[in-house]
Amino acid sequence: MNKILVVAFVLVSAFTSVAFAQVIRGDSKAGQGVYEQQCLRCHGAKLDGNGPDSQDLIVRPANLRSQLSRSKTDWELLVAISNGVLFSPMHGFRGKLTDQQMLDVLSYIRSMSPPDISS
Ligand code: HEC
Repeated sequence: MNKILVVAFVLVSAFTSVAFAQVIRGDSKAGQGVYEQQCLRCHGAKLDGNGPDSQDLIVRPANLRSQLSRSKTDWELLVAISNGVLFSPMHGFRGKLTDQQMLDVLSYIRSMSPPDISS
């Protein structure tokens, strides 16, 4: 009886960790494509906020390489991507991108500009 419980526990944990990984992980390669199509014109090829359209904006795009952006959590960045930033040209991408594409683009940003956990 105990053996069955242990096997069941191992199976359940294995499956939930796979499911969890799929939920929270994006594919940075796919995210690069999304970024180039939807974000680069403002945030720039280097993610520094100097994209070709940034010159025309009164509220300049965030420099995603700055310490300020890097010290934000995945969740905070995802909320900005999904809901937009109030009173700025950063509109929300919910509905325009799928949840997976938003996770992918977040992964791409994190791969180019790793989180800053020093503060
Ligand atoms: C029309 C220009 C524009 C486009 C297109 C755009 N952004 Fe932005 N983004 C901005 C501006 C402006 C801000 C706000 C800067 C501020 O708050 O001062 C911003 C803020 C953000 C932030 C919040 C950064 C922080 O530190 O809080 C993230 C993350 C972000 N953008 C990601 C993206 C992603 C990913 C895409 C493409 C899916 C995208 N943006 C497309 C202009 C743009």
